[in-house]
Amino acid sequence: MGGTRFVFFGGKGGVGKTTVSSAFGLDSARAGDRTLLVSTDPAHSTGDVFEQSFGDDPQRVESYENLWAMEIDPEREIADHLQGIKRKLNSQLSASMINEVDVQLEMAHQTPGAYEAALFDRFIDVMANAEEYDRVVFDTSPTGGTLRLLSLPELLRDWVEQLRAKRMQSVELYERAAIGKREPRRMREGDPILARLEERRDRFEFAHETLRTDASFYLVMNPDDLSLRETERAIDALDEYDLDVGGIVINRVTPEPESHEEGRGASYLRERCSKERDRIEAAHDRLEPPIVAEIEARVEEIRGPLLADVADELDVIRAEERDQSSTR
Ligand SMILES: Nc1ncnc2c1ncn2[C@@H]1O[C@H](COP(=O)(O)OP(=O)(O)OP(=O)(O)O)[C@@H](O)[C@H]1O
Ligand SMILES: [Mg+2]
Repeated sequence: MGGTRFVFFGGKGGVGKTTVSSAFGLDSARAGDRTLLVSTDPAHSTGDVFEQSFGDDPQRVESYENLWAMEIDPEREIADHLQGIKRKLNSQLSASMINEVDVQLEMAHQTPGAYEAALFDRFIDVMANAEEYDRVVFDTSPTGGTLRLLSLPELLRDWVEQLRAKRMQSVELYERAAIGKREPRRMREGDPILARLEERRDRFEFAHETLRTDASFYLVMNPDDLSLRETERAIDALDEYDLDVGGIVINRVTPEPESHEEGRGASYLRERCSKERDRIEAAHDRLEPPIVAEIEARVEEIRGPLLADVADELDVIRAEERDQSSTR
């Protein structure tokens, strides 16, 4: 095995993240690495690609060796959590209060951070419990949240650290008031709340470290202006979090017509290809990370044997990862 254990694919909605990460996962599995594909797509597209349904736990991908997949559904996790709180409250509150509290809870559920935090918690779980896999491939969600997600370990770490400091202070104040100048018992014997906060901090510490030492990030884009600009922004954002983009995959490149082909269809395609070439040139010029693969647009959706074709085209990424790790 070579390269980083964790590989993330990101990019805007519909550019081909699920296709590319599935194909990369397949390529990795074919090379003999035990590979887990992790998707956060609420539309269950990984299931569509392999024509099989996946759940919250890793499941073998049928008819492939060394390949497992799971689909994380953070919406459902948040909903379950919310349900739990409601049930507890219902037994304690009057009917009119329940309505009021319901509204408040729903609102808290809608806050943008709730989704990402639940998702990231699962990412950490997966990363921390992936011993049995040589490689874990993350197909990240299309929202702008993907990038914010990667900044979460920092934000949460600081936040937990602040809470911890406050907790230490209040434990100390409270106990000193009761016992005078002796060392507070809870500081000696362990405060359960403090222990929990410390455990959370260690988790985020682990995520922060793993993302920087054992993970690589690839961005998928299409050969058009909008996609190029969005990719530039994404690279900058990742850079802010001190995360390097390993490479860019350009997906849905229009195939050139043969030189003898003529007529309206052929000239349309030629013009289109020339425009796309310009964009790809611009991507080479303007983007820092290398363009590691160009994948042609197919007529059909990418499933079954077509996926293996795309996997062949992504072999360059694995080769690159291998080289990088041997010089590391
Ligand atoms: N190179 C290609 N040629 C033809 N069809 C493609 C190609 N790449 C992707 N597709 C098709 O385009 C659709 C969208 O691709 P995909 O689901 O991989 O995008 P995505 O970035 O994961 O989308 P989302 O942001 O919704 O998760 C799928 O039906 C897929 O089969
Ligand atoms: Mg997808």
